[in-house]
Amino acid sequence: MATSTAQLLRLWWRRGGRDRVLATSGFAVLVLTLFLTFGSLFHAGPEPAFDGLSEGPVLVDLTLVHDAEKKGAVCLDGSPPGYYLLRGFGSGADRWVVHLEGGGWCDSVKSCSLRARSHLGSSRYFESHIPFEGILNNHPSLNPDFYNWNKVKVRYCDGASMTGNVEDEFQNNTKLFFRGKRVWEAVMRDLLSRGLANAKQALLTGCSAGGLATFIHCDNFRALLPKQTTVKCLPDAGFFIDANDISGKRTLRSFYHDVVHLQDLANDLSKDCISKTEPAQCFFPQEFIKYIRTPLFILNPAYDAWQVQHVLAPSTSDPQRRWQRCRLNIHNCDSKLLEALQGFRTTMLNALSEFQKNRDGGMFINSCFTHCQTHSNLTWHSPTSPRINNRTIAETVGDWYFDRREAKEIDCPYPCNPTCYHLDLSAIWP
Ligand SMILES: *[C@@H]1O[C@H](CO)[C@@H](O)[C@H](O)[C@H]1NC(C)=O
Ligand SMILES: *[C@@H]1O[C@H](CO)[C@@H](O)[C@H](O)[C@H]1NC(C)=O
Ligand SMILES: *[C@@H]1O[C@H](CO)[C@@H](O)[C@H](O)[C@H]1NC(C)=O
Repeated sequence: MATSTAQLLRLWWRRGGRDRVLATSGFAVLVLTLFLTFGSLFHAGPEPAFDGLSEGPVLVDLTLVHDAEKKGAVCLDGSPPGYYLLRGFGSGADRWVVHLEGGGWCDSVKSCSLRARSHLGSSRYFESHIPFEGILNNHPSLNPDFYNWNKVKVRYCDGASMTGNVEDEFQNNTKLFFRGKRVWEAVMRDLLSRGLANAKQALLTGCSAGGLATFIHCDNFRALLPKQTTVKCLPDAGFFIDANDISGKRTLRSFYHDVVHLQDLANDLSKDCISKTEPAQCFFPQEFIKYIRTPLFILNPAYDAWQVQHVLAPSTSDPQRRWQRCRLNIHNCDSKLLEALQGFRTTMLNALSEFQKNRDGGMFINSCFTHCQTHSNLTWHSPTSPRINNRTIAETVGDWYFDRREAKEIDCPYPCNPTCYHLDLSAIWP
């Protein structure tokens, strides 16, 4: 099972060389799936242990939101959306973490159609149960502040970070639904009826494209819950920046432009932002975080491995393949390429400089070559996970959520932090 998933991913990635859309989703899928399959190696049976104290991550069952179909809240292929819910216990029984899955975006009828035939576009391919790790783990030693909360992982099956609301069921004669916003609403409605509506405390989080969805929906999530509920948002690896690539092009900007126009997202993005600049720019968090009123914690590695692949050094901008080894493993970067990486970090920090003054905000911008960091114990909270000022990501997020202390951490530049967990993608794409 693990092998066939890896093979499939490799296939996707290779195709991605020719089709940037698949390339875009490929990496996030990979990171996610690595964690999922890795976790599942340790669990042969599907029987969950709900006492919250057993070793290893529990497996949680899929729930499909069937009545969503009536409202046209469907995945790209028209199938119903879904999520996994693990009930909280003890003092966590009325507290909720909602995590939004990531997995890139699609920007053409062709790439969205391909996606509609995968787990990123159709619930027909969702796993019937998945392990809950990192911020979703139910063991206090691996998840000190949120272990006993209700925890939800929402599957991502539209192509635009849970935005989009196109009535038409056909795009250029191809049956394809752009209904991310309706999916968001249907899933939230379902969760509210299962107890989220009575939450005392809630945290919306998500990784990669789900991190971007967390930025986009943060205030919407706040608005769904009672005034007295504490609501905060933790986008993980969702701070995609509008930066020049190594050839001076804005590769991600033109990609976002195509996504936003294809799926007609203008109505779903920040109104304050749309009134000031063109819609496609409002898909970049740096353009709209200043309008978000709900407290935010921005977690992002400064050398975000996905962004190095697709924003800074996309292969289309590297015909001589000078970045070939470096973009897969930061230890392979010579001093010249490292300089470009440091420039990327500076661009990211500049884009965050205004946010840094936000009194309710938190941040953890570590100098690691990685992507999502909330959904594995290796990065979230363990004796060997990355730290800044000797605090793990889980501890820093907890400090911020519960107002224990100021939690705005910016790491010194690579290679200063010995606690980093750097990805080595060359093992996967030699
Ligand atoms: C942490 O995660 C890794 C990878 O999923 C797993 O091998 C390990 O058993 C986990 N550690 C604990 C204590 O659950
Ligand atoms: C629809 O098809 C036409 C003709 O092939 C093409 O010009 C247009 O770009 C397509 N539209 C989309 C959204 O793919
Ligand atoms: C770092 O924190 C750990 C507990 O998480 C503690 O045992 C250790 O002494 C701390 N190290 C330093 C240098 O403060």
